[in-house]
Amino acid sequence: MATLAFNHEEIAARELKPELYDMDGISRASVEAHYKLYQGYVNKRNEILGKLDEVDASAANQVYSELRSLKVDLTFAIGGVKNHEIYFEHLGGAGGAPDGLISDLIERDFGGVEAWRTDLKATGMGARGWAWTAYDWDETRLFNYIGDAQNTFPVWNATPLIALDVYEHAYFLDYQTDRASYIDAFLNNLDWGVVNEWATRYQIQA
Ligand SMILES: [Fe+2]
Repeated sequence: MATLAFNHEEIAARELKPELYDMDGISRASVEAHYKLYQGYVNKRNEILGKLDEVDASAANQVYSELRSLKVDLTFAIGGVKNHEIYFEHLGGAGGAPDGLISDLIERDFGGVEAWRTDLKATGMGARGWAWTAYDWDETRLFNYIGDAQNTFPVWNATPLIALDVYEHAYFLDYQTDRASYIDAFLNNLDWGVVNEWATRYQIQA
């Protein structure tokens, strides 16, 4: 029997850092709502890989619709894990103006922090699920990319540095329908030190 998830390992949900429960403008209840969904994505990822292991891929023409739904659901689950891990890791900071490498990149690729902020905010207002500031290795610059769901629309060879969750669970408890105020709160709680750590680790050149 040929399996489709050869040698996969289960992953566990990461712990949240305590700063996340003490943010201005993003309540503990909202963070818990994200975390519950995140745990669900982790479990789903493990479960789907387990199921793929049970499928006989050599008989794929008989089970292709099952394979299709497992593989599509896998992208949603893994997207939900990755997006939220970025979200949790780079919040809990003091917001404000970026410094260091990320500041240089934003200056170069958007012409200034205000232009970047305006563009990210507009992208977040227009998205159904996510807006990302990502470094695109082929374009060799930052873009604010848009996502409607956990698995749409990633761009190959681009690395997300900022992940703005604009699903309803991200803001409804704190702001009801006022998504714009939530985006402001998100920006006010960004930890630029973490974003700079990533930009440095990935060796992005300013
Ligand atoms: Fe979320």
